[in-house]
Amino acid sequence: MKKEMLYEGKGKKIFKTEDENLLISEFKDDLTAFNAEKRGNESGKGSLNCKISTEIFRLLEKNGIKTHLIETISDTEQIIKKCKIVPIEVIVRNVATGSLTKRLGIEEGKILPFALVEFCLKDDALGDPFINDEHCLLLNLVPNEDCIGKIKDMARKINSILSVFFDAKNLRLVDFKIEFGFTQENELVLADEISPDSCRFWDKFSNEKLDKDRFRQDLGNVKMAYEEVLKRILN
Ligand code: C5P
Repeated sequence: MKKEMLYEGKGKKIFKTEDENLLISEFKDDLTAFNAEKRGNESGKGSLNCKISTEIFRLLEKNGIKTHLIETISDTEQIIKKCKIVPIEVIVRNVATGSLTKRLGIEEGKILPFALVEFCLKDDALGDPFINDEHCLLLNLVPNEDCIGKIKDMARKINSILSVFFDAKNLRLVDFKIEFGFTQENELVLADEISPDSCRFWDKFSNEKLDKDRFRQDLGNVKMAYEEVLKRILN
């Protein structure tokens, strides 16, 4: 079933399959931060992220969000629809932290009055710079303005579904990054992954960080935090 590797990213490897419309996404144990200036490896992290992302994508599908996920076939592998990835990182924020507080001087931990949707250009060489709607059109990152609206609507809907879900698990969905793609049928779907590598989760009561910030900030117990997120999702 699994054929040659098509692409290796920081967190996943993508393989061809016998079906030209399907790919296999394999979650890696590697951890990177700050545009891969900081590198690490946490045995079992790929498997945790694969399980977490599978649960979240299934939840979203149940709530009407189309995704690239077909089936999870092992601890670290998913069969996904082949998509043309929109080269934009879509970031949704509920609480100010990370690059938002640094860029705009907003107080750390401030609850934002509405979910803020931001875009970054997916370009490692340029350091994934923040861009706006007009940059997306200027650089032909999306086919038209309507597509930007659809991406924002889907991002906000995903945020609403996940915020409610995680709140019930005593986790605060602080912010997250998602990616979109067009299937062979030209349908806009959620792609990539949603995991503690791409989200910030804070414990609702203690504000303990349970995500990749533990690696970024050398807080230790990275794997334990990811395990805790999976445990709460499955509870
Ligand atoms: O660093 P920043 O505060 O802009 O990150 C916002 C959110 O997007 C965080 O949840 C972070 O994990 C995620 N992110 C990501 N990949 C990037 C940049 C940010 O998953 N390249």
